[in-house]
Amino acid sequence: MSQPLNASRRRFLQQGGMGLLAASMAPTWLNAMEMGKIMSSPGNKANPDFKADVELNLLAQHSEVSILPGTATRVFRYTAQLIRGPKDSIVEIPGSYLGPILQFHKGQKVRIHFQNQLPEPSITHWHGLHVPSEQDGHPMHAVVKGDTRVYEFEVLNRAGLNIYHPHPHGATASQVYYGLAGGLLVRDQEEARHDLPSGEFEVPIVIQDRRFDGNNQLVYSSTMHDRTIGFYGDRILVNGKLPSTLDVASRAYRFRILNGSNARIYKLAWSDGTPVTLIGVDGGLLEVPEHRPYVMIAPGERLDVWMDFTGRSLGSRLSLKSLTFKGVLPKMAENMMGGGMQHGGMGGMAGMMGGAIPVGSEYDILSIRIAREVDSGSKLPSQLSTYPHYQVEDTANAGKPVPIGVSEGPGSMLLNGRPYAFNDVQPNERIPLNSLQLLEIFHAHGGGGGHGGEASQAPMEHGGEKTPSASGEHNMAGMKASEGGGMGMGGMNMGGMGMMGGNMGMMFSMAHPIHLHGQQFQVISRSSEGTDPADYATVKEGLVSSGLKDTVLLMPGEKIHIIKPFQDFKGLFMYHCHNLEHEDLGMMREFSVE
Ligand code: C2O
Ligand code: CU
Ligand code: CU
Repeated sequence: MSQPLNASRRRFLQQGGMGLLAASMAPTWLNAMEMGKIMSSPGNKANPDFKADVELNLLAQHSEVSILPGTATRVFRYTAQLIRGPKDSIVEIPGSYLGPILQFHKGQKVRIHFQNQLPEPSITHWHGLHVPSEQDGHPMHAVVKGDTRVYEFEVLNRAGLNIYHPHPHGATASQVYYGLAGGLLVRDQEEARHDLPSGEFEVPIVIQDRRFDGNNQLVYSSTMHDRTIGFYGDRILVNGKLPSTLDVASRAYRFRILNGSNARIYKLAWSDGTPVTLIGVDGGLLEVPEHRPYVMIAPGERLDVWMDFTGRSLGSRLSLKSLTFKGVLPKMAENMMGGGMQHGGMGGMAGMMGGAIPVGSEYDILSIRIAREVDSGSKLPSQLSTYPHYQVEDTANAGKPVPIGVSEGPGSMLLNGRPYAFNDVQPNERIPLNSLQLLEIFHAHGGGGGHGGEASQAPMEHGGEKTPSASGEHNMAGMKASEGGGMGMGGMNMGGMGMMGGNMGMMFSMAHPIHLHGQQFQVISRSSEGTDPADYATVKEGLVSSGLKDTVLLMPGEKIHIIKPFQDFKGLFMYHCHNLEHEDLGMMREFSVE
């Protein structure tokens, strides 16, 4: 059986440098992969003193599934077998390349034997779960073919939809793309108190985009252009399958939506204009439902959406769509892709995107038909959950937020001026255990994209000696001042952008979904001062800042403040862009909690 990864590597070698944004240097992970050096470590053993309530085997292996009519598609796939525990700990999605949904209860002790049967190192990360560093699927724990990594952790999270997916540095994007991913549901009593739609009325919707060749095989081209803006498919898949019509009853449903795409951002809305009722996000239920005209969802984010079909007539239809929006891609790429147009209305330039559905165009994701009339159903609770609200005054570093400065350049994606490197923890990446921290996520480039040329900018050289500027002395003279637009690094940068003027300044800047491992955080402010107002207006009402989050979408020109607890566990915890191509290119770092 041919190995898709090797094919894509070969293709990359042939096409490298042909992208719109020319390569300035060989991507570090490619060298690592070519030399067979993805970080890996030997397996480990179960601890006999850990009494597991749930124990299962999780395998990553080659498989074949029928996705398009005709020839089956070769994929990578997670499969699971229950060793002990409740039967519904594993919920299969028949016919899907996605892994089964793992379903745990808060307080359960879980042991998972992850066995890698793929010909390249892999490791599984529990995106959203608060687990010890050694249980988190750090790239250094990747195991080679035939080896097993045993995980043991207690489920500390509140109810919510999380994700499990690979995390070997440099190969996360391709492994996810070829099929390795699954949902991980946590249940708890707070959630159970409500009569939320369950069973067949609670529907997972994992949205991904993929590209296929003439023989129904997945195409993952790694041109520098694809890797710089992210890889985009020409088809939308739902739960690992071609979307078919979902037959529903005329009652309330709970849709557990997960953006499992490598790079694609969606603007979700109901085709008939019904507001989107949000009851939960990454870290579980909101306090109260929110009604939005549309909701943005970036890779790694989750949405818990309530939709009541009561009163709709039998046979009527509607669909879940992605609506038009602008401004998440660098302008040049956006123009080339024909974003903002109807899918199908794109010009010849779109051919350069390998036929990808233009980002920000309008298309259907899932069509729905009312197939059954019922007169019972759940009522939308007015109060959903409670959780503490973090305050700036309560953080350990109120005047000095931990910086997460993103910058993009051809073939290199950096955080605080540095690409991912193991054991490269910088002073501002050391976090005291059991502290509540204020963090500032911002664009660290001069506004024109790239890694910036101002004196205050971080060095561009990989492995350079200079310390990234954004860090230590990044003094926020109080949140208010920087919100007010003048102070602090973000403010200066935005000023620089102003000088370059509107769209020019945005030429290379793009959106980044920033994800932090460990406990969920709260978004406490979003400053849109540096944004292009016309572009921003197309996404603004759908940006999610409520509730407990582990991934937040940073739009070009935006600055976001979050507060995150770092409790219970010492060790290394990753933070990175969840555009998986960016992550692999190096837009990833780690905090050392100590
Ligand atoms: Cu969903 Cu570090 O990843
Ligand atoms: Cu994660
Ligand atoms: Cu990114």
